[in-house]
Amino acid sequence: MGMILAIDTSCDDTSVAVVTQKGEVLSNVISSQITLHAPFGGVVPELACRHHVEYIDAIAEEALQKAGCTLNDITAVAPTVSPGLLPALLVGYSFAKGLSASRAIPLIPQHHMEGHLLSPFIGKTETPENSIGLIVSGGHTQLYALHQPMQYELLGETLDDSAGEAFDKVAKMLSLPYPGGPEIERKAEEGNGLAISFPRPMVKDKGLSFSFSGLKTAVMIYLHKQKAEAEENIPDICASFQMAVRDVLIKKAERGLKQTGFKSLSVCGGVSCNNFLRQEFKEYFSAKGISLHFAKKEYCTDNAAMIGFAASFYLRSGRCIPQAQLQALDCNPNLSLSDFHELWHTKYNH
Ligand code: KG4
Ligand code: ZN
Repeated sequence: MGMILAIDTSCDDTSVAVVTQKGEVLSNVISSQITLHAPFGGVVPELACRHHVEYIDAIAEEALQKAGCTLNDITAVAPTVSPGLLPALLVGYSFAKGLSASRAIPLIPQHHMEGHLLSPFIGKTETPENSIGLIVSGGHTQLYALHQPMQYELLGETLDDSAGEAFDKVAKMLSLPYPGGPEIERKAEEGNGLAISFPRPMVKDKGLSFSFSGLKTAVMIYLHKQKAEAEENIPDICASFQMAVRDVLIKKAERGLKQTGFKSLSVCGGVSCNNFLRQEFKEYFSAKGISLHFAKKEYCTDNAAMIGFAASFYLRSGRCIPQAQLQALDCNPNLSLSDFHELWHTKYNH
């Protein structure tokens, strides 16, 4: 049976996974760099890159060990080639290219967003098809029509900050540690989400674009006005901010469902770890007969299992790049998912 070694070094996590040709995840090892970047309040590309270089060998070894196999069992290698921080992407890609060349196995370049989009379906019996895919991560907030694997349509995305960025920036204003999402979630548990009426940006707009920078600014203005009292108010601020994010995400996802007529919604990306959002989505959409798929928490934040799972669809449909054609391929920090598929089509005739 075919076995894929998948690699994701797109941002600040070094991750390697072993996934079977059928899409079964045998191992998924992640080396998080959160403590490395925390003092800077965000990801420092140069530091991320050095950490990837230092750890990738050991992480790959551990992934093979946990999967109970050796390099001899690996029949294809699947690195994330876009989007991400270029120096970080290059580490995983060079590692993959080396393996492909030295072991004469094909390469299956992968797009990070496709991994996220398919992540809610890892280990599930449901097929990923005719679903609205909502990606809420640190780098992106996007809404896709997922027709079937390898066939997507971007319906809308954020015009400024991503949802994760808004969580992180609001947390910083409140002097909460990085990354802010989990901290805001924790504080919000003791607060009242209806206490402060923050704006719901673009919620009345008929399109499917998002905007979160106005919401972040509204929290900043509120803090300026409150001064000393804001300290005691932190749980209410967090809960009210979270409620505003909830309203925007639910409304846009619902609009996407209406527009396409799909009856399935899949939610992924780091922000989808949030228990409050998971519960609210469940209550709202189950009452409307929508089948809801959240990625398992281990697959919400960046991981190579989702890359291997996405690559398994490519492998099963014969989409691999023979080792001999590798020179035609490059990493790209900003390739859209549709351009990525176009590239497969034009360059590799798939
Ligand atoms: O998907 P991810 O690991 O990174 C990208 O691919 O961009 O997402 C990281 C983001 C961060 O902004 C972090 O604050 C947010 O996900 N996050 C959360 C939670 N856990 C992580 N946001 C809200 N609630 C959480 N529990
Ligand atoms: Zn990601």
